[in-house]
Amino acid sequence: MVILNRNDMELLLTMDEIINALEEGFREVKEGRSFVPVRFRLEVKEFEGEFLYMPAYLSGLKQSGTKIVSVFPKNPLIGKPTIYATYLLNDPATGELLAILEGATLTGLRTGGTSGLATRYLAREDSKTLGIIGTGFQAFYQVRAIQAVRPIETIWAYDIDSKRLKEFCEKVSPLGNIYPVSHPHEVVRQSDVLVTSTTSKTPVFSGRDLKSGTHINAIGAFRPDMREVDEETILRSKIVVDTFEGCLSEAGDLLIPMAEGKLKRESIYGDLGDLVTGKKRGRESQEEITLFKSVGFAMEDVVVAHRAYKKALQENKGQRIE
Ligand SMILES: NC(=O)c1ccc[n+]([C@@H]2O[C@H](COP(=O)([O-])OP(=O)(O)OC[C@H]3O[C@@H](n4cnc5c(N)ncnc54)[C@H](O)[C@@H]3O)[C@@H](O)[C@H]2O)c1
Repeated sequence: MVILNRNDMELLLTMDEIINALEEGFREVKEGRSFVPVRFRLEVKEFEGEFLYMPAYLSGLKQSGTKIVSVFPKNPLIGKPTIYATYLLNDPATGELLAILEGATLTGLRTGGTSGLATRYLAREDSKTLGIIGTGFQAFYQVRAIQAVRPIETIWAYDIDSKRLKEFCEKVSPLGNIYPVSHPHEVVRQSDVLVTSTTSKTPVFSGRDLKSGTHINAIGAFRPDMREVDEETILRSKIVVDTFEGCLSEAGDLLIPMAEGKLKRESIYGDLGDLVTGKKRGRESQEEITLFKSVGFAMEDVVVAHRAYKKALQENKGQRIE
């Protein structure tokens, strides 16, 4: 069995490899060879925490595993992080445990990779400017993934927390020209590709500021009462989701305008599987505004975990234990 820690995960896979693995995974799901139950939530009332169990089995690709995420909001009081995440990769033929992977890095890589895959199908080929609203943990992986699929020259970034914005700019500066700004409209008006990766409950920019031809990846807002994008953005955009099942049960960005009668289910153009299997076309004109909304999907974890495991075996990386 192999153990892959944070550092191994960061170094093992290129973004291209991750995006290609995800493309294969979304095809597998569309073609009906996946078993991905709704995630199971176990509450731990005494400590005001919870565990989330996210299993997946892909029968065609012969991959299976489970991500276990714990969320204990009081942990910072005792000097521990709120979230821990671990991935257990199993052999679906025997059940054998093949690998244990650090799950937070895996999540960053697969969430970035999924936005990268959507950007490959939906952003203008000539996209040169990238805007980031919300410069926390996920944002770095979003930048890496989008740079892997479009010739990004300049990055504009905004966060309500100026310390996090500064730290992000320092971390990203080796990847390209990055400019911190003090208002989200300065990001939005410049962006060919825009990412919202915040924990906000209310829209983080005005859809009026979007220029035609922009592609948006909205990855935050994971509960029905949360939203990062406003009604104007929803009405101006061609909308693609990671999965209908996930977004229509969790994504306030879509559920709130639907409840208000502003958006119909039929107006959502399709899911990422529709694009990768060619059932639907991605971008159809230079002018259209496209919005990819994701809430995350256990298939994304298993395909990236499996790719990392295979590469670790080939390159003799990670820690082996009997
Ligand atoms: N779609 C997916 O598959 C997926 C996967 C993982 C995480 N997420 C979600 O992505 C979001 C970001 O996750 P993270 O791990 O980077 O969180 P994080 O806490 O590390 O970063 C969030 C950042 O958003 C900033 N922020 C909050 N409100 C803002 C606002 N109104 N304007 C600008 N910035 C604002 C915060 O200051 C913080 O820096 C979360 O909602 C998380 O649940 C989605």
